[in-house]
Amino acid sequence: MERISRNDRPCWVLVGGRRRLGRALAEDLARDHDLVLTSSEPWGGEEWVEGLSATVRVRTLVWNAENPDLGSRMMADLDGLKSDGWEISGAVLLAGTFPEQSLGTWTPASLDITWRMNLSFPFLCAQALAPHLADGACLQILLDTSIHHPWLMRLPYSAAKAGLATLVPGLAQLLAPTVRVVGHALGAVLPAEGSDVAFLADRTLLKRNGEPADLCRAVRYAADSPFLTGDILTLDGGRRWVDR
Ligand SMILES: NC(=O)c1ccc[n+]([C@@H]2O[C@H](COP(=O)([O-])OP(=O)(O)OC[C@H]3O[C@@H](n4cnc5c(N)ncnc54)[C@H](OP(=O)(O)O)[C@@H]3O)[C@@H](O)[C@H]2O)c1
Repeated sequence: MERISRNDRPCWVLVGGRRRLGRALAEDLARDHDLVLTSSEPWGGEEWVEGLSATVRVRTLVWNAENPDLGSRMMADLDGLKSDGWEISGAVLLAGTFPEQSLGTWTPASLDITWRMNLSFPFLCAQALAPHLADGACLQILLDTSIHHPWLMRLPYSAAKAGLATLVPGLAQLLAPTVRVVGHALGAVLPAEGSDVAFLADRTLLKRNGEPADLCRAVRYAADSPFLTGDILTLDGGRRWVDR
């Protein structure tokens, strides 16, 4: 079960916890968690973060996938949290990009950028976090329903998420029995700008896109399920079962 921090609230790290789904999850978890939120850019005293700090402890960090000193930066930050008495009982890796890269446009440089952000970065974050996770902690990783049917205009992104689908069970084996690892293969929740939202909804069994609350429920379920590890929950409204 979740180990609690000194003030009785579990403390979780959200990598990519500043915008979009990361922010939605932070706001949901802040009902009963202390939070460490990372962003690729320096924080600027956002009002919503100040609001959370009124009731729970919030620490903000800068972890940028493009930083050549990322490894030492993460290590120093996590050591600092430990010496300040933060005991990490959960982590969610949300950071990513969703680039359109059609066949014919691929270059070594463009593939490197996509895979550094969507594959190497989660690998490196998981490696840095692993020794800092308390017994009973759950490490959760955001994947995409593309692991079942790749996005054809976004094959490099889909390949990165497929790589994470290997990380989840592999890491679960490496970190067992003390730490559990769970993935979430998400369908459209906050679609990319310019997407045909109605079309995406129509391509699900449930005829709707997801909501951030769908992810929040699943993340809480995974954290509270001590017999669950090494698996990927698909939250896509049944998109993968729709005939193409
Ligand atoms: N939204 C959806 O409907 C959906 C569907 C399927 C899967 N997913 C997955 O769910 C996760 C969250 O989705 P989202 O749509 O909220 O995320 P997103 O907008 O694709 O990205 C999440 C965060 O990644 C961070 N990021 C970007 N470049 C970075 C860098 N160089 N270094 C470190 N962090 C960087 C950004 O935060 P900062 O600017 O603060 O650094 C960004 O807000 C992603 O892994 C995504 O693939 C989302």
